[in-house]
Amino acid sequence: MVLFIVGRSGSGKSYLAKQIVREILPYRKVVVINNNPEYMNEISGMIPFVVDKPHKYDWNKVISSELNPHIELLVNSDEINGELDEISEAILTRGNIFLVIDEARLYYPQYKHSRGVEKLINTGRKFKVDTMFVSQIAVLVNRTVDSQVTFIICFQTTRKAEVERMRLYFGDDADQLSRLNNHRFMICDFLSGDTGIGRL
Ligand SMILES: Nc1ncnc2c1ncn2[C@@H]1O[C@H](COP(=O)(O)OP(=O)(O)O)[C@@H](O)[C@H]1O
Ligand SMILES: [Mg+2]
Repeated sequence: MVLFIVGRSGSGKSYLAKQIVREILPYRKVVVINNNPEYMNEISGMIPFVVDKPHKYDWNKVISSELNPHIELLVNSDEINGELDEISEAILTRGNIFLVIDEARLYYPQYKHSRGVEKLINTGRKFKVDTMFVSQIAVLVNRTVDSQVTFIICFQTTRKAEVERMRLYFGDDADQLSRLNNHRFMICDFLSGDTGIGRL
């Protein structure tokens, strides 16, 4: 399963993502990648790994342990993919993991993306690896997310390019996205094509 949560800054993406993580944590190992400690601070049971230089951690060891790592990935942009490749390989090796990549436009952009994350999206199902991408700008996130997405959740977005991208999922209902009230979202089950509006 691939989940994609999008919407303007402050619209409620991470709030929803954190709630999903809280509900999954009792049952599955969760790995979060973000550029700040918000998940770790607000969810008990996540252990911090602050990556301020490459190869600081042995990801096979961390990911195969019983810990739920919150990885604050702070390396330079040209070092991000190498680190993500190692994390992804370790995730596929262990299997049965729920991976969250927040700020996905930074960590999994359209250009110069991690081949490891790409492999994880394309083959994750075989290894019981589910992924959730969170981004304020969907059009900057690598297209492999769109190609494999199971559920897309879109909060308010006023950018024209974003609304046009969302038309792929919501058809003409995408026009409602710019008028969505705070913390409300539209959801599309890509397999059935069903759509709806919700909030936490
Ligand atoms: N459903 C909600 N109910 C109450 N507060 C919410 C809800 N969704 C988001 N918030 C609050 O709104 C603010 C922005 O939400 P956040 O999820 O961090 O936005 P972003 O889309 O930028 O990730 C946070 O302070 C958060 O606690
Ligand atoms: Mg956020």
